[in-house]
Amino acid sequence: MPLIDPVLLKDRLATQSGRFDVDALDECDSTSSELLRRADRGAPSGTVVVADRQTAGRGRRGRQWLSQPEQSLTFSLLWRFPGNAMRLAGLSLAVGLAVAEALEQLGAQGVRLKWPNDILLAQGDGFAKLGGILIELTSDRRGAQAVIGIGINLAPPAGDLLQPAAGLGQAMRQVPERHVLFAAILERLAVILDLFAVHGFPGAKTAWQRLHAWQDMPVSILGEERVITGTCLGVDDDGSLLLQTESGIERILSGDVSLRRA
Ligand code: ATP
Ligand code: BTN
Repeated sequence: MPLIDPVLLKDRLATQSGRFDVDALDECDSTSSELLRRADRGAPSGTVVVADRQTAGRGRRGRQWLSQPEQSLTFSLLWRFPGNAMRLAGLSLAVGLAVAEALEQLGAQGVRLKWPNDILLAQGDGFAKLGGILIELTSDRRGAQAVIGIGINLAPPAGDLLQPAAGLGQAMRQVPERHVLFAAILERLAVILDLFAVHGFPGAKTAWQRLHAWQDMPVSILGEERVITGTCLGVDDDGSLLLQTESGIERILSGDVSLRRA
């Protein structure tokens, strides 16, 4: 029996339960890979795949995502949007906002956002990674669709990581029961994704910046060819990162870079 019972989850989701069709698996390669296959076969918007164990969990840029049953929540959600994929700029930021707001609503403290796809937890005078978001977009004649993969640590994962990791247990006295946690995140996602479909990222920008880990702080952007250092001004309406550098304002559009506190 998987750790998530879709019937219990449906009860928890109450009025929003009709928006989601949840399949809970003991194991799969990656919930996002599994959902991409189902999307190809015509799965509807709102399809969710959650798995206790991923044998090939993926992060951005082909990186590995570590998770353990009992100590993680790993799931993917399929969402369709009218129009083409160009309109989905900033979607990973809006999704991060939904997750962070759901965690705050459950009582978590110190949850922050890092551009473009990380959920962080304040620890001492730094941050550790609490969760990650992987967005994969496709479009066809009917519009654009996003496979939104979300991994959240309930406890920090075992294994070697380049950056510090955190678990939800460090953000609140007691981690909520798994169905309560999952339902809160899905509910907030439905609200934010509805807003996003109408207003795009501009509708979420102010709220995102409230939770931005490095607002107005010195940061470096490590690209393949150059390093840009400056003061982080936040994000623009299209979800790009704005940096005040000595030579003016730099706009970082691509997520294929690493952002670091300078
Ligand atoms: P960068 O800023 O260079 O992109 P990042 O840490 O934000 O670094 P991502 O590609 O966003 O990198 O996320 C993938 C990384 O997350 C992996 O390289 C791995 O180091 C780290 N990671 C993998 N599993 C976990 C986990 N469960 N918790 C925290 N971090 C993890
Ligand atoms: C990142 O930080 O680079 C993104 C990590 C995304 C991990 C989640 S776990 C559920 C879904 N399935 C995957 O293989 N990846 C995402």
